[in-house]
Amino acid sequence: MSIISSSIEKAVALLNQEQIIGIPTETVYGLAGNIYSSKAIERIYAMKKRPFFNPLIVHIKSATALSEIARDIPEKAALLAEAFWPGPLTLVLNKQIAIPDLVTAGKDTVAVRVPNHPETLALLNELAYPLAAPSANPFGAISPTTATHVADYFEKELPMVLDGGACQRGIESTIIGFENGEPILYRLGSLSVEDIEAVAGSVKMITHDNIAPAAPGMLSKHYAPLTTTFLTADVKKKLVTFEDQKIGVLVFRNGINDPRIVQQEILSPSGNLAEAASQLYAALHRLDNSHLDCIIAERFPDFGLGKTINDRLKRATQK
Ligand code: TXA
Ligand code: MG
Repeated sequence: MSIISSSIEKAVALLNQEQIIGIPTETVYGLAGNIYSSKAIERIYAMKKRPFFNPLIVHIKSATALSEIARDIPEKAALLAEAFWPGPLTLVLNKQIAIPDLVTAGKDTVAVRVPNHPETLALLNELAYPLAAPSANPFGAISPTTATHVADYFEKELPMVLDGGACQRGIESTIIGFENGEPILYRLGSLSVEDIEAVAGSVKMITHDNIAPAAPGMLSKHYAPLTTTFLTADVKKKLVTFEDQKIGVLVFRNGINDPRIVQQEILSPSGNLAEAASQLYAALHRLDNSHLDCIIAERFPDFGLGKTINDRLKRATQK
């Protein structure tokens, strides 16, 4: 029997029993549990095979619940929350004492957002606690954008995935922290840098390093298919370097004709970056399940969501 269900009642009952379930959000599906249950939170880390130094995002039902989670909220954080919640913006703020160390991996800060998804907002409204939820994929693997992706990863371990359809945004939230009240970008995501800067002024980017990442989503190998993947500005030129291999291609808007291509994913024939972002992970899942010798991905325009897509593709190619 499938673990996919659309019963919010069942989801509430399982969460109240300190179990964890898959939940839909507008970005990607999450593995959710009660932030105050150490049993649930430990299970999330174990199921994801996630290192304990990598903290989780707390999901709350509305901005008014923020003061229970965080304190000393910078003015620009409040402006961003006002502009983008519910939505794909995660704020890293000083945590309230009550937030368990297990959730924040011992940090004094907590990552928090209000997801924009009707089922999950309905679920949060039935619960007496917020939900900690990392993306519902094993550590390092491609994030899930459908309930089926989650079930494929965790069929044996998870009692339920709440079905919310395909994720509208399709790429994780943008993570913003603060230094002296000024915004710092920790992770590129579904809101572009331009979106953030329009509200909060110029944003400093943290260049990631693998040793002590500010947000471990910045670890360079992440979101990776098992199939060897290349990223290139010129797919045709790269194709010529292969002979009779089975090749999958992922491109922005224009398809390519070549006998070596056995599967082609065109993310947005009309050239719309938001549409391309929403299709990216599902396309990578399909390519990765197609027994190809390799995947060649096209580099996207380096602005707006194109920057986020390039970031994920770069990580997908890292070994
Ligand atoms: O769109 C999303 O954000 C999805 C959905 C489910 O909400 N969640 C998600 O969670 O992407 P996850 O765990 O895959 O990524 C959370 C990122 C990690 O890179 C983690 O290091 C970072 O947030 N993070 C969490 N708490 C943090 C903190 N206190 N300081 C810095 N980074 C933090
Ligand atoms: Mg993740």
